[in-house]
Amino acid sequence: MKDLKNDLFLRACLREPVERTPIWLMRQAGRYMPEYRALREKAGNFVTFYKDIELSVEATILPRKLLGVDASIIFSDILTPLESIGVKFEFREGEGPVFLNPIETPDDILKLKKFYKNDVYYVGEIIKGVNEALNREIPTIGFCGAPFTLAAYMIEGRTSRDFKKAKAFMYNYPDAFKELLDKLADMLIDYLNFQIESGADAVQIFDSWGGYLSPDDYREFALPPIKKIIKGIKRDYQPVIHFTKGVAGFFDDMITSGADVYSVDWMIDLSDVKKKLNGKAAAQGNLDPIVLYASKEIIKEKAVSILNKWGKDTGHIFNLGHGLMPDMEVEKVKYLVDVVKKESVR
Ligand code: CP3
Repeated sequence: MKDLKNDLFLRACLREPVERTPIWLMRQAGRYMPEYRALREKAGNFVTFYKDIELSVEATILPRKLLGVDASIIFSDILTPLESIGVKFEFREGEGPVFLNPIETPDDILKLKKFYKNDVYYVGEIIKGVNEALNREIPTIGFCGAPFTLAAYMIEGRTSRDFKKAKAFMYNYPDAFKELLDKLADMLIDYLNFQIESGADAVQIFDSWGGYLSPDDYREFALPPIKKIIKGIKRDYQPVIHFTKGVAGFFDDMITSGADVYSVDWMIDLSDVKKKLNGKAAAQGNLDPIVLYASKEIIKEKAVSILNKWGKDTGHIFNLGHGLMPDMEVEKVKYLVDVVKKESVR
């Protein structure tokens, strides 16, 4: 942390004093940037792209160069470590991830192999490469998917509106499902520790589908493996960020996970988040990404409204409630970053 030129993001995560609110954006290196599309073209497909160390470093640092964000998130995917345990998948244009050997029965869980960090050595090299390329200008965020979200994809076999197959498996084979979540938690502890050893300054756990559970099922299935991961992470200062989409109905449960920062979507009021956290953890969010399709006036109004909800205290990292989309305008995204930087000065 000491060697960073701009450590605003880390200070906000750790609730230390800040001169303004730091900002970065989920999926900030993505197809909405012509420069990203050029790199992707060079790489071939998305998987060959995130395994290419040099091109992934370039993709990771694009948002720093083009938008001026306060943190980099490594260019990769939540599915990356699954290849090591024998999960086969590909990304299809317009369809997203498609699994070639989805989990269909409890026995399929026994077939999963042990995770070896050497299988994802390239992720460590990307982190080192980013720290070198940016000369420690801003912090580097590593990440992983939450066990429930990964299990949902592994069983469903593809992305889905309701994850019907995955949730039916959970209800029909609760013990096997928990065993799968536990295996994934062990894998993700090793994976995040490897990222921190490689130089990640913070790590974020993405639970994109945990919010689609009932509060009881969230507490029974999604939350325990996240607590296990957070306990298992070895770190000195590196904060852990816990993101769940759709968490408004059980935010009180989410904030028992032990994270330093809770990242929330736009369906919860940031004033309520602040009240509930009561100075004991930081918050990240929570602009509705769709606001970026509106005029600059509206973007400014909505961004300032979020800043005002938190006030001038530390402990807030500005972000979206979910990722940027491929057809967004770079100019408006840049405008949002500039507005937050200007309007949040203490
Ligand atoms: O935030 C960042 O800029 C870092 C990189 C990052 C990506 N995916 C790159 C990506 C991160 C942190 C993720 C996380 C991820 N991946 C999540 C959790 C967050 C969320 O969005 O809910 C999930 C569920 C995935 C799985 C995934 N990856 C899906 C469903 C898709 C297809 C949907 C889509 O947008 O095409 C991806 C592909 C993906 N991951 C792309 C990128 C830049 C698009 C790849 C391309 O075609 O170039």
